[in-house]
Amino acid sequence: MIKKILVYLDNFLYKVILKNLLKTSKLGFGIIVTGAESGANFEHMYNNRPEGSFLIGRFVDKALLNLPAVQATRGRKEDIEKVVWNEVGNNRLLGRKTRVLDLASGGARYLRELAEEHHNGDVESICIDKDKLCVQMGKKLSAREGLKNIKFFRGDIFKLVHLRKFASKLNWIPDVVIASGLFIYHNNDATERMLREIYNFLPAEGLVIFSSYENLSSRKLMRKVGSTSAGEEWTLYYRKPDYWRNLLYKIGFRQIFILRDQWRMNNICTARK
Ligand SMILES: C[S@@+](CC[C@H](N)C(=O)[O-])C[C@H]1O[C@@H](n2cnc3c(N)ncnc32)[C@H](O)[C@@H]1O
Repeated sequence: MIKKILVYLDNFLYKVILKNLLKTSKLGFGIIVTGAESGANFEHMYNNRPEGSFLIGRFVDKALLNLPAVQATRGRKEDIEKVVWNEVGNNRLLGRKTRVLDLASGGARYLRELAEEHHNGDVESICIDKDKLCVQMGKKLSAREGLKNIKFFRGDIFKLVHLRKFASKLNWIPDVVIASGLFIYHNNDATERMLREIYNFLPAEGLVIFSSYENLSSRKLMRKVGSTSAGEEWTLYYRKPDYWRNLLYKIGFRQIFILRDQWRMNNICTARK
């Protein structure tokens, strides 16, 4: 009986009180209404400028943007950007242009911030997202920032057969493939299938870069209040670095490098074909 009451109170706290309070803030509204995985929410986390309805909304937004999980998301963006920047520099040394394919790109902020490298033509990026609004956002922001050599397309990255056709039509083969904020939403089978596809897609020496969560400090909050853009409850898959090390090795990747962040939440994994 007491257990039932406690469960009821817990649900009431999360699903009624917190949910309604969070909805006053831009990030809370995004997580609860628009869909927690939306690239637009991530753009807002990267901007780190509180917005919301009235003073209370901005206050709640500020609190959400300061959560360790959100700080870790900003950190992961920085880390991915550094890895790509380094790869572009190494390729430049060899007189080579870097071609980046970003799967489930959202606004691809970690690429857009490499403005100079895109401008020089040292890097060309193609960003794919299934969400029409994310694609429009990426196009709009990159145009506003005056970026060159970065393109946003709508597509389902789980149909990489289409991507291959698309790439061969353009005569454009990526030497870097990014998947940031993707595998957390997918089970082991789908994840392994995708990584194998990426392996087959990459040329020799090609680099894969992806992020993964081993933990999330606001796990309970996200599970209780967050929903996907399809309105479904959020199911997240947390994985330890060794899971990735073994899987990448089994697929055939080498030079596996896994970076664990200071919060022990995000891992940035890189590996070479
Ligand atoms: C968590 S956001 C990550 C955005 C960006 N990569 C980042 O890390 O900032 C996940 C993105 O994946 C996109 N997405 C999810 N499933 C997809 C699929 N099957 N094909 C293409 N995009 C997908 C969503 O629309 C969303 O924009």
